[in-house]
Amino acid sequence: MSNVLRVAIVDPNDQTRESLKTTLLGMDVVWLDAECSRYEFFSDVIDQSKPDAAIISLDGSPERAIALMERLRATSPDCHLLAISKSTDGQLILKAIRSGAKEFLTHPVEVEELYAALERLLQTKYSGADGRTRGCKMIAIAGATGGVGCTSIAVNIGCNIAKRTENAVALVDLDLALGDADVFLDSIPDYSLVDVTENVSRLDFQLLRKSLTKHSSGLYLLPRPVQLQDLDLITPESLRKVFGLLRASFSHVVIDLSKSFSQVDLTALELCNEFVLMVQLDLPCLRNMVRLLMSLQQMDNIRDKIKVVVNRVGLESGQISLKKAKETIGREVFFQIPNDYRTMVEMRNNGQPLIEQAPKALITQAVSQLTDLLVGAAEAPESEEGKTVIDKSATSTWLNFWPGKNAKVKAK
Ligand SMILES: Nc1ncnc2c1ncn2[C@@H]1O[C@H](COP(=O)(O)OP(=O)(O)O)[C@@H](O)[C@H]1O
Ligand SMILES: [Mg+2]
Repeated sequence: MSNVLRVAIVDPNDQTRESLKTTLLGMDVVWLDAECSRYEFFSDVIDQSKPDAAIISLDGSPERAIALMERLRATSPDCHLLAISKSTDGQLILKAIRSGAKEFLTHPVEVEELYAALERLLQTKYSGADGRTRGCKMIAIAGATGGVGCTSIAVNIGCNIAKRTENAVALVDLDLALGDADVFLDSIPDYSLVDVTENVSRLDFQLLRKSLTKHSSGLYLLPRPVQLQDLDLITPESLRKVFGLLRASFSHVVIDLSKSFSQVDLTALELCNEFVLMVQLDLPCLRNMVRLLMSLQQMDNIRDKIKVVVNRVGLESGQISLKKAKETIGREVFFQIPNDYRTMVEMRNNGQPLIEQAPKALITQAVSQLTDLLVGAAEAPESEEGKTVIDKSATSTWLNFWPGKNAKVKAK
């Protein structure tokens, strides 16, 4: 399962609460949002943290626990209730189910049993009316060399997804030393990845959003650390936890990777669903691409997600043809983005995404279409793609060779 449930628990008994908590913390499908030892405070906890599921122990006081579940069913109808008890008394199980429990678990709970119950809830949470699964989609963007356009594209993909009000989108700047996503979004963040990493076990949904910087497009930014001295705090382990929290809180996470392909970058690539590998059609960049692909193709958790995207198509000087580039890298090109330096630089200098800065520009349409393909709102481009686009320098002719020209946008 790639999706995550946010869970809160209440159990007055320290021993059973701790044991349940330990089991939950070991499950990658769970984000433990809150724990509580008093029935009377639990409604407020649920009200504030709004988890997907609440596990309520009946053993402290079955009457109060049942009354609590009845109250929660009325006040927080979106929160799935699970009852847990040492008892297997049929009457108690019946009462729990009648007061709103979707599942009844018995102590000591088996991991498989808990996992199966949570998986059933996950399916309810993420299945839309059309039967498609809606989890958190993570899109990572890396480049075969510096300055290839990763941040420009990552920021705009993030803003494009955030444009739809049903989406909640976070952009994580993993270019730990030199990241500049905050400049593109014209924001001065209060907190960075370091703050979230250090407090990850204390953060809930609300606090996490407060720690991120919200852009007017709706995109939340988690910026790179401020101090070089703090870089070591971001480790594969700490990143897994932060991504666990992000996956539980956002519908989409866009990750702007560094160019070092460090262990931290590789961890993000393992966790993501889509991996955009950006390249430009010049010799050093293509050479790096070949070398990178040789390594990345050996990595089981990464290989199948790679999507090669060519940026700055149409840049006149020194470009290699797309045909030659495809032969060199031995892979299909997933998408091409045209060259438009002026629009891109204005976008960055004004801190405005392309959809606001230049809504009609070809480059804006291109990035929007790439976004749709990545989030699954459009069909993949057909292989009969713009074969000669690279050799055309004028962007006005570029749309004629648009790789996804025939892509149909599916109704959501
Ligand atoms: N499609 C494009 N056309 C023209 N210029 C671009 C394009 N994409 C990016 N750029 C420019 O390339 C430079 C580097 O982009 P940036 O996103 O910072 O790259 P990276 O994050 O890979 O280092 C910036 O000046 C940006 O405006
Ligand atoms: Mg960058």
